[in-house]
Amino acid sequence: MRTLIYVLFIGLMSVISSHLFAASGSIKLEPVKIDLFDKASLQRGATTFVNYCLSCHSASFMRYSRMAKDLGLTEQQVVENLMFASDKIGDTMTIAMRPDDAKKWFGVTPPDLSVISRARGTDWLNTYMRTFYLDADKIMGTNNLVFKDVGMPHVLWKQQGYLENDHGTLTAASKGTDADYNLMVADLINFLAYLGEPSKIQRLALGKWVLLYLFLLFLVVYPMKKAFWKDIH
Ligand code: HEC
Repeated sequence: MRTLIYVLFIGLMSVISSHLFAASGSIKLEPVKIDLFDKASLQRGATTFVNYCLSCHSASFMRYSRMAKDLGLTEQQVVENLMFASDKIGDTMTIAMRPDDAKKWFGVTPPDLSVISRARGTDWLNTYMRTFYLDADKIMGTNNLVFKDVGMPHVLWKQQGYLENDHGTLTAASKGTDADYNLMVADLINFLAYLGEPSKIQRLALGKWVLLYLFLLFLVVYPMKKAFWKDIH
């Protein structure tokens, strides 16, 4: 009986909390396709991440050397294209900005993004990156549809242009909005998904071989079992 009550309680709590956290509610999230085997996409995402995010956000669970291997790059390529001169290939992706300074400048410390894809979900991240809009009331001059009063500026404004919020619908405020922006963001989110669970690439690849192995094993073992049990039935 006690266990039953316990189980019911946990069930109820999880229903309530999932409603609470889905409170961005009325805003429809833009789905994004995640493909960890698309190395080109991951490489493009990594480039965007290093150039536009790593100045404020760290990804301290990831080492450059591991990223090189997973993304199909040589260490040389990573050193030349994806790293700041002061970092070494064995280092984790940390930043030079001190947390105290960050707090002074932005009011909040930009969180480490290592596992943000698991905390927020990739569709949320995709929508977040696409829905910064002009808001004159904010110090940054911008706001965000799924993260109200966010302390982060619209760092990809050059790529996306600025959007205006017309009662919840975002429209381009200026010409020059890049149509490729959504593709750029999709690659970036693909990379963030990889960051959140890097070993998934190996696991998925290995999984196919394991299933094949089990199938072949079955082909051998099943006739054997039949032969052994032939006289017993
Ligand atoms: C100029 C500094 C700066 C840059 C560059 C920057 N961010 Fe941020 N970011 C912030 C700050 C500050 C916050 C915290 C906002 C808050 O809590 O109000 C934040 C928050 C976030 C969040 C929400 C985290 C949460 O709490 O769920 C995500 C996701 C994010 N940033 C992704 C990115 C990505 C992806 C890039 C690169 C395209 C990027 N940021 C570039 C400063 C920055």
